[in-house]
Amino acid sequence: MFYSVQIQAFRDLIGQTGVVDDPERIATYTTDQRQLFTGSTFAVLKPATTGQVADIVKLAARLGIGLVPQGGNTSYCGGATPDATGSQIVVSLERMNRIREIDPVSMTASVDAGAILKSVQDAAAAAGLLLPLSLGAEGSCRIGGNIGTNAGGLSVVKYGMTRDLILGVEAVLSDGTVVSDMRKLRKNNTGYDVKQCFVGSEGTLGIVTGAVLRLAPFPVRRATAWLKLAAGTPLAELLALVRRQSADLLTTFEFMTATSIALATDAMINPPSVGAGPGGAVLVELASSSDHLDLDGLMEAVLAEAVESGWVDDAYLAQSGSQRAAMWEVRESIPEGEKRRNGSVKHDISVPLSAIQRFLGLAGSTVRNYAADLELSVYGHVGDGNLHYNVLVPSGVDRIEFGREIERSLSLQLYDIAASLEGTFSAEHGVGRFKRHLLEKYGDAGRLAAMRRIKTAFDPSNLLNAGAVVYPLEPSSIR
Ligand code: FAD
Ligand code: MLT
Ligand code: ZN
Repeated sequence: MFYSVQIQAFRDLIGQTGVVDDPERIATYTTDQRQLFTGSTFAVLKPATTGQVADIVKLAARLGIGLVPQGGNTSYCGGATPDATGSQIVVSLERMNRIREIDPVSMTASVDAGAILKSVQDAAAAAGLLLPLSLGAEGSCRIGGNIGTNAGGLSVVKYGMTRDLILGVEAVLSDGTVVSDMRKLRKNNTGYDVKQCFVGSEGTLGIVTGAVLRLAPFPVRRATAWLKLAAGTPLAELLALVRRQSADLLTTFEFMTATSIALATDAMINPPSVGAGPGGAVLVELASSSDHLDLDGLMEAVLAEAVESGWVDDAYLAQSGSQRAAMWEVRESIPEGEKRRNGSVKHDISVPLSAIQRFLGLAGSTVRNYAADLELSVYGHVGDGNLHYNVLVPSGVDRIEFGREIERSLSLQLYDIAASLEGTFSAEHGVGRFKRHLLEKYGDAGRLAAMRRIKTAFDPSNLLNAGAVVYPLEPSSIR
């Protein structure tokens, strides 16, 4: 076999179980989450310790083999899968899945980077604490991947992105050096905040092997409501009203259009009787760790004011845990619903809150001009100014071809609108391999130059996830 010497060298280093070279078992690691691209690798390495990760990096550097770190492979921009050359090797952190410590006093979780997000949430909950990172893929994505993409999700409006939840990190650099900064400090002004370099770097600056995450008190009370919006409801103003009148106890403000809701409820056996008004719908949640607060009462007052404002036609407060779960199921099933319907071309837009309405207006007329019969699934984390402005692939049409055509034409118009409103083409999904050209097109030149210098300083041989996010040098100087 072509790479048999290299495979044996990795086996000698980390043992038989740590090296997978059976093509059938490798296949799931080489196709991206959206099945848009299949790369190639001659093996998947599964280290069990940080020391083994360091050994792998040193050997790979000696052999000139590129490394692609992988967590749950749930990311959307092709950053977790190797390229087509066959010369990159996948490093899966899945065996490094220990929860090292939950410290209820410091309110921290110290974990291996391969720990599944849901398992960390559960361990925190068992100690009466909340890991406030929550997303549809939480049952399969891993902390290292969340750090790699700086994942956002469903409660950013209250708790921030992954970046805001990281107190410490352990990572292996491209020469095998281990950065060991697993302290639980909220304050530590001792020079560059190196751990933050890894957040959102999509495996291009180091392989994260551990992290210390900030926890919050577990909410013992929640009030969850479904709001049907009047036509033309100004979302940012409604958000401001809800935040103000709920004493900022808001943890979720998720917008959905009628089409997105229908996609989600299509496959439900007992879909809840929620729907959209002419302006769509919003899922709102308030949470409190104190059981002295009457959250339902507070929510009822907020809803009454929202209806009075004329922006909300109708509002329902979940009356039970199962009603709440059903509302959440609708929101969380939208991506799966899109997949069932032949997929979508995703646009993970964010604009300043003050520009949301303008974006929706301009984007809507752009799409109508492009093709009046295109179907959109528009939803997202409006509390953070983040819209998933997705174009549905018509049934019976080749998904990949359609996606390419839209991305060549309409997508750029949508990104132009976002850029003209000081927004971005990627709010939370990252850049990976699929959006690198967009970073070149829309990124500030000075910021790009800084990114290249950081990449070059951390990884001068371009060993780590080459081809994702940014080239170490000017693209024109790459042969
Ligand atoms: P992977 O896909 O394996 O990797 C992601 C990137 O991180 C890659 O570039 C990889 O090389 C790098 N990486 C992985 N592990 C490491 C490591 N140990 N060290 C260094 N780099 C590493 N995302 C959101 O932000 N918000 C959402 O609401 C959201 N909802 C989703 C819903 C569904 C149904 C799905 C399928 C995905 C959703 N996502 C969402 C996208 C995805 O789940 C996130 O990007 C997640 O953080 C990826 O984690 P992962 O472990 O799967 O990472
Ligand atoms: C979500 O918010 O559900 C995801 O980030 C978007 C998606 O899966 O398309
Ligand atoms: Zn999202």
